[in-house]
Amino acid sequence: MTEKIILDCDPGHDDAIAMMLALASSELEVLGVTVVYGNVSLDRTLRNACVVREVVGRDVEIYAGVDRPLVRERVSAEAVHGASGLEGPHLPTPSRGPEAKHAVHFIIEQVLAHPGEVTLVPTGSLTNVALAMRLEPRIVPALRRIVLMGGSLDTGNWSPAAEFNILCDPHAARVVFESGVPLVMFGLNLTHQTPAVPSRIARFRALNTQVGEFTAQLLEFFRQHHVERYGWDGAPIHDACAIAYLLKPELFTMQALNVEIETNEGLNYGRTVGDVWRVTGKAPNCEAGIRIDADGFYDLLVERLGRYR
Ligand code: BDR
Ligand code: CA
Repeated sequence: MTEKIILDCDPGHDDAIAMMLALASSELEVLGVTVVYGNVSLDRTLRNACVVREVVGRDVEIYAGVDRPLVRERVSAEAVHGASGLEGPHLPTPSRGPEAKHAVHFIIEQVLAHPGEVTLVPTGSLTNVALAMRLEPRIVPALRRIVLMGGSLDTGNWSPAAEFNILCDPHAARVVFESGVPLVMFGLNLTHQTPAVPSRIARFRALNTQVGEFTAQLLEFFRQHHVERYGWDGAPIHDACAIAYLLKPELFTMQALNVEIETNEGLNYGRTVGDVWRVTGKAPNCEAGIRIDADGFYDLLVERLGRYR
């Protein structure tokens, strides 16, 4: 039985790899790709999603979502992903654009059409998802689950306390984390275990395919920032962890815990506060990723991206 998913993303290097992994995997039925502002502005994240579709040559619909957060001012990550949001490889001109329907309406329509069956996979700011929940609350009990990349159970990356996707729109994140939908969260504490070091990048290049080369060039650009900024030997492929979990959950060690979002402005703005030791007595609202078998993750990525010929 395939799992119906909607990938809600802001490509972004690692979003692009998540999208390619999902579209290569027959266990997943990708109902559509919805796009949100985030790493760069919406017009660019949208174009990048269309570029990735062009590179892999798969027939999937792409929908434009929201171009700004609910309350706070927009932040973006050109410093990490470059001006286009997908710097590194040559980006082909997309032959096909997005659908006319708004992403939020698409999410609502699909979830109501398949009650209990749709998994949302957000790998960017949670604004599209939160707006869909507010516009049509009936999607909340109708969703199968949300498997997202965002937050951290240790330190942040966009502030000492907060991870980028959650800090982009803490209010939207709060709507999602308080929704009651079964949540699976992959934060930086997990994704940082997946650096794309040169020997791993070489495995994509060795595929000797257009997608393998595209991926290698994406990862080389992405790596450079992490070498300079953090002194690491490779960039984590954060967003692909969420898709990998759907395909091979046995690669992951998870923990059920209560996670709340700090929406008060200040040092901890946008922090995902995980009650690891259950000091609040609150019931867990999420399964959080703790550890990943990184070699198994790369084996999966290389095998799946190798399916594009
Ligand atoms: C997250 O922020 C973005 O830059 C990446 O695409 C990923 O979704 C990591 O903090
Ligand atoms: Ca992302």
